[in-house]
Amino acid sequence: MTYSTLLIERDDDGVATVTINRPDKLNALNAAVIADLAALAGHLRDDDSVRGLVLTGAGPKAFVAGADIAEISAIDGDDGRAFAERGQAAFRSLEQLGKPVVAAVNGFALGGGCELAMACHIRLASPNARFGQPEVKLGVIPGYGGTVRLPRLIGRGRALELLLTGAMIDAEEAHRIGLVNRIVPAESLLDEARAMVRTITQMGPLAVRLTLASVDEGLDVQIDTALAQEAEKFGASCATHDRVEGTRAFMEKRPAKFVGK
Ligand code: COA
Repeated sequence: MTYSTLLIERDDDGVATVTINRPDKLNALNAAVIADLAALAGHLRDDDSVRGLVLTGAGPKAFVAGADIAEISAIDGDDGRAFAERGQAAFRSLEQLGKPVVAAVNGFALGGGCELAMACHIRLASPNARFGQPEVKLGVIPGYGGTVRLPRLIGRGRALELLLTGAMIDAEEAHRIGLVNRIVPAESLLDEARAMVRTITQMGPLAVRLTLASVDEGLDVQIDTALAQEAEKFGASCATHDRVEGTRAFMEKRPAKFVGK
């Protein structure tokens, strides 16, 4: 499968590196990129040869500098709602892929770029990464999940400060407030991100999928409901061959060979 705005590189370990490729526009998310991301998520969901993703931006300056402002300048209320819903659906598909998605944030991650990074499961950033939700400066609000994921990730007070001031923060500050997991030298960012995906894909794939789902479904419901959901998924993981293999391998002091069943 080829995409007009994405570069896809696969390695032998089942790690796909997806590069948003509009460097002349700092990888801004226009309709074509959103459509490609949605299509990609649909294709990868059922592609067992891909076990996890690294998502990054082309060029040395930007991960993604936001939704395409030229497009936003041309939409009204109804179009705006549909515009937001398309982006939200694409990001949600990546978030619910059932496989690890690690953002390698290699520069500006503003507006939709910060929102895309937040829809990824884990974020690594190079020292030159910059984060922000500058939509208010344009007279709009974040439409791809910024007001929803940012408070969940860094807390309401800090999120509101970023959302209401439109301030841009550097990688150190993003790390300090928990917006990124780790800062990595620019030259090793992609390797580290791939290594992280590889580490996760060595775990039982069903356990990984159920963990992602348990956190995703459990965050926003009452704690007893979340615990019940976790117990159900724990039961599902116990019903697998991978549980037999994983626990036996521990007792036999050897690496486990997971098969995803
Ligand atoms: N949408 C559309 N085009 C964008 C863009 C966006 N979000 N961000 C950058 N670009 C384009 C610029 O218009 C410029 O195109 P041009 O060369 O055809 O004029 C090109 O990318 C390079 O950007 P430029 O502004 O010249 O780079 P810079 O290094 O001076 O500044 C930024 C970098 C990120 C600070 C600046 O581009 C910016 O503020 N971008 C918008 C960020 C934003 O508000 N995002 C939220 C959108 S909802």
